Amino acid sequence: MPDNHVVILAAGKGTRMKSADPKVLHRAAGFSLIDHVLRAAAAIAPATTVVVVGHMADRVRDTLGKRPGLAFASQEVQLGTGHALLQAESHLAGKSGTVVLLSGDAPLLRPASLRALVQAHTARGAAATVLTARVDRPQGYGRVVREDSGRGRIAAIVEDKDATPAEREIDEINSGIYAFALEPLFASLRSIGVANAQGEYYLPDLVKIYRERGLTVETVTLDDSREILGVNSRRELADVAAILRATKNDELMASGVTLIDPATAWIGPDVTIGADTIVHPNVYLEGQTRIGSGCEIHAGVRVIDSTVDDGAVIYNYCVITASHIASGAQVGPFAHLRPQSDVGEGAKVGNFTELKKTTLGKGSKASHLSYLGDATIGEKVNIGAGTIICNYDGTHKHPTVIEDGAFIGSDSQLVAPVKVGKGAYVAAGSSIVEDVPAGALGIARGKQANKPGWVEKNRKK
Ligand code: UD1
Ligand code: CA
Repeated sequence: MPDNHVVILAAGKGTRMKSADPKVLHRAAGFSLIDHVLRAAAAIAPATTVVVVGHMADRVRDTLGKRPGLAFASQEVQLGTGHALLQAESHLAGKSGTVVLLSGDAPLLRPASLRALVQAHTARGAAATVLTARVDRPQGYGRVVREDSGRGRIAAIVEDKDATPAEREIDEINSGIYAFALEPLFASLRSIGVANAQGEYYLPDLVKIYRERGLTVETVTLDDSREILGVNSRRELADVAAILRATKNDELMASGVTLIDPATAWIGPDVTIGADTIVHPNVYLEGQTRIGSGCEIHAGVRVIDSTVDDGAVIYNYCVITASHIASGAQVGPFAHLRPQSDVGEGAKVGNFTELKKTTLGKGSKASHLSYLGDATIGEKVNIGAGTIICNYDGTHKHPTVIEDGAFIGSDSQLVAPVKVGKGAYVAAGSSIVEDVPAGALGIARGKQANKPGWVEKNRKK
């Protein structure tokens, strides 16, 4: 296989977004537009990836710069798509293979379509292959002009503004995505002129130039024309986000997941869910979240970068970030799991309970109104209602250990660093500042005094 190289055009201004941010950094379904494009590009394992930046170049560069294997070319003035591609030349000097041109603002292109384009291009030994689509409303797009009254080989691409009335009737359009053989590409780009309605260097002019020189130009037509949709406005941003979301939801349902209301299931592209899991309305599953099978995620839950094992149930309105919930555990309603929390098998985190960097062992329960931070809690521990772990002394965070089978009475405070031994009890309402040994009862509260007849006496006064 010859090398594949990818060039992504991202220099344009995006005026209609009316934004202080570069267009390609706007997000749809949890990823920036250009991220979607880079993710699709990964399907052809590019040896080189060049992003052509111009408008707000520094912002785009700074945001993407941390990623390995990305090169940037700058196009200071946007003189057209042909000129934009030319800016990538130095990054491809001395290389060979196929150059795939993508648009940074077209996030719906599927990896499979990109692979099909490159496969057809190399198999047919073409100098250029244009990805095309048939659409009901071709207005605004470049039209694919074919020989033999539209039935033959591609002869040229004519931009909407330059098209004759007859050409405007053509419903096959240029996606703006192409595969090019590297060898003749850059020399040929220099022969593109600006004699057109917009006075720009049109990359699609290469089709006519190649055909006139007897080079092979092929086309691959998409089955689903929506894949080429680009984003030029907030309206279109919402439209592509809706398509990404619906596509993901359809895949999940096809694989055996119940989405009670797909219209309000917000599930990111990388999220995985096992069969027979039920997702209720208004649920947000984001980032690298993995949900097992047979789980139930109730309405209003938001899960970010977390793992939920088989059979776990998350009740309404929980927020769960970078945490793990083991199989059969129950969380919520109204629980907050902050990063690095681990809820063990069959364990229970109830309403208004917050965990941070805390392990709650197998079968343990914290059913009501607790804060558990920086704690390692063993198996079959009962954390009574209103228990607070005081993990912060105003300067430092300290750890707490609660061993297997311990019982923490309601409304207790455990002032860290502190340890409650195996099977120990803490009396309700205690402020525990010293370790409680295994099997002991820790009690730390004011002693109760009852005054007989006090009520009656006071009333007479
Ligand atoms: C382009 C194609 C058209 C095709 C359509 C598909 C040309 C001349 N026309 O039209 O045939 O049907 O895409 O969407 O190519 N860009 C730069 N630098 C420039 C100009 C553009 O980086 O100097 C970038 C833009 O930011 C954008 C992309 O290239 O991401 C496409 O450019 P645009 O001017 O929007 O082309 P279209 O008019 O959409
Ligand atoms: Ca455009």
